[in-house]
Amino acid sequence: MNILIINFESLSANPVSQWLAQHNCYMITTEYSLKNITPDAASSYKHIVGIDSADNDDLIYYFAEKLNSNVKFDYVIGIREFDLLPAAYLRKQWGLPGASLASTMAYRDKGLMKTLLRDNNIDVPAFSVIDNTLDLTNFINTNQYPVLIKPRASKSSRGISVLRDEQDLYQRLKVGLKRSSEDLINLMVEEFIDGPMYHIDGLVIDGEIRFIWPSLYVTNCSGFPDGEHIASCMLASNDPLLESLNRYVSDCIDVLPSPENFAFHAEVFHCSDGSLKLCEIAARAGGGPVMTAIENVFGINIKEIAFKASIGQKEPQILDHVIVEPEQFCGWIIIPNKVSNTYVDHLPRKCPFEQVKNFNVFASNGDYFDDERCVLAEIAITGASTEEVKNTIEKTMDWFNSTVQWKSSM
Ligand SMILES: Nc1ncnc2c1ncn2[C@@H]1O[C@H](COP(=O)(O)OP(=O)(O)OP(=O)(O)O)[C@@H](O)[C@H]1O
Ligand SMILES: [Mg+2]
Repeated sequence: MNILIINFESLSANPVSQWLAQHNCYMITTEYSLKNITPDAASSYKHIVGIDSADNDDLIYYFAEKLNSNVKFDYVIGIREFDLLPAAYLRKQWGLPGASLASTMAYRDKGLMKTLLRDNNIDVPAFSVIDNTLDLTNFINTNQYPVLIKPRASKSSRGISVLRDEQDLYQRLKVGLKRSSEDLINLMVEEFIDGPMYHIDGLVIDGEIRFIWPSLYVTNCSGFPDGEHIASCMLASNDPLLESLNRYVSDCIDVLPSPENFAFHAEVFHCSDGSLKLCEIAARAGGGPVMTAIENVFGINIKEIAFKASIGQKEPQILDHVIVEPEQFCGWIIIPNKVSNTYVDHLPRKCPFEQVKNFNVFASNGDYFDDERCVLAEIAITGASTEEVKNTIEKTMDWFNSTVQWKSSM
């Protein structure tokens, strides 16, 4: 079969062409990613197109149409969050099977997602899509401060602002809700929820949830753009919230126009009144070390299983023997450059703690970091209990921060 893979991200975590080795795989990626691709990985594709733009997806469609006029694709697969919609539009254009445009939209556009859920009586934060500034001020008048403004379809907590009072509102409006007057606003406003957040990762095959496990974010994810690390730890099987988190996410998947075969990554707040409310749900596997953590504990790669299932290659028997009462737990850390506009030095290449099972550093001493936060390291930690994992996360961060140095010149 001829498969078009759209993957603008770093390639090492997504060896899709190796998973789909018996097919003819074609890839559209960025020229930047192409520079880092190993000869081995490159040779697993029949052809790769490198696009000279990291932020703009318009050329994806341009090159995809050109390729399809020669190749005639059977499937189109999107890998990272921003690849899902181009893949869905191309499937629609070419009449191919896989997640529909309606389904992909419902999982990409948080305004649509939450409207569908609210209309079906699933508890979500109070929210409003912002078409113009009055939508925002009306929402504040009804719900009071604090509120949170976020893009409807972004990632990595980009473009998020919390408004706590009139002054914050004024400053945010002064900056502007859109880049220029001729743009349309692409934001939503939500009640600000001050509770812990969980991520629930899983796999749907033939419309049925075949794997699901919740984890607690032990840090606040919205600190990432300010250089704060993100860390998480799986819940123990006897955690009192485990069942209700799984049930809540399962209800969301039932209500949304979900694909038949997909991996999911949901983020859910546990509110002070005990209720669960969705932050967002993505129709793709969790990023960073989420897959590594699941593989370390449960021995399955749900991303691989989902991709294979999406091209009709199902191996449901792998899921028949998945552990239901794990004896060890995994947590992880994603560390961005702590400081911007600086050089990094003294980056460790390995970690002294035995509980740290995976330690990946994506930079070298002397690398310069500008304003945009990049992932410096991803770490996966295993422990006999969730307490041990959480303690190791803290210990590892203390060690990392006291080892790495930030310099204004090298
Ligand atoms: N209503 C809310 N109340 C409080 N905090 C929120 C709310 N919505 C989002 N956040 C915070 O902002 C972060 C980013 O929000 P969200 O997940 O919707 O955006 P994102 O850009 O898709 O993020 P990411 O790619 O990091 O998951 C959340 O992880 C959470 O910490
Ligand atoms: Mg999120």
